[in-house]
Amino acid sequence: MPRSGPIIVLTGAGISKEFGLHTFRDPDGIWAQHRIEEVATPEAFARDPKRVHTFYNTRRHQLVTGNIQPNAAHEALPRLERDWPHPVLIVTQNIDDLHERAGSVALLHMHGELRKSRCQHCGDVRAFDGDLDTSQTCRSCGMRGGLRPHVVWFGEMPLYMDEIGEALATCALFVSIGTSGHVYPAAGFVQEARHGAGAHTVELNLEPSLGENLFAEKIYGPASQIVPAFVEGLLSGSSKNSGAHFSGTPNSRKIG
Ligand code: APR
Repeated sequence: MPRSGPIIVLTGAGISKEFGLHTFRDPDGIWAQHRIEEVATPEAFARDPKRVHTFYNTRRHQLVTGNIQPNAAHEALPRLERDWPHPVLIVTQNIDDLHERAGSVALLHMHGELRKSRCQHCGDVRAFDGDLDTSQTCRSCGMRGGLRPHVVWFGEMPLYMDEIGEALATCALFVSIGTSGHVYPAAGFVQEARHGAGAHTVELNLEPSLGENLFAEKIYGPASQIVPAFVEGLLSGSSKNSGAHFSGTPNSRKIG
């Protein structure tokens, strides 16, 4: 386990599960209730924008007005960012804003953000907490009917890929939290980190992901328990705390 050097933390839906947000591929997940082809592709939006708007409006409404809060896993990450001696970058696949609410600053939303709209005509992206529909006018270009959720649909290019590629090439530690490893390019980041900079790689998840074999170290349990414990261990072994000892042997543990 490195005691210093840049860290990348990749997060997925599993980190937000414990405060009522559904994951995608668990038995009670979003894709068990909706078909991807009907709500999460550019073709679906072209065919039936009302349906796609309703899907995201419902989720936005839940995020803004529901009892959704960061949990102990989200809250541990700003502490890591503050106290680790080198840069810590969170790359999230999540479109919720729970990392920001917890206080994380170095954060890239590679799949977009639910609480923003984007104009298909001029590209204007802005904060948006209401309901989107097909009759609205863009406040930047004045065109009507082109507003969409600022999210990345299947078949579209994720955001910030250059920045993420550069960070993966130089990180000392790559940590994956709460993601099933089904969706690329995020599922391939662990290999980029290993091959690029020879990073140590750790999976923190409820259960082994599809890519579990790609990680040097795996810790299984609910994110709200294993992430704070992992961060605590990292910080006590960091080069800032030279008196502490941290075991770096690759292993597999289960907590909770
Ligand atoms: N703590 C930790 N991990 C958990 C927890 C929990 N409490 N609950 C569930 N998990 C794990 C599941 O075991 C699963 O491996 O989180 C993972 C969630 O996987 P997915 O539902 O596939 O979500 P994710 O990997 O984020 O999906 C990637 O797919 O549909 C697209 O754009 C969407 O960003 C999303 C992408």
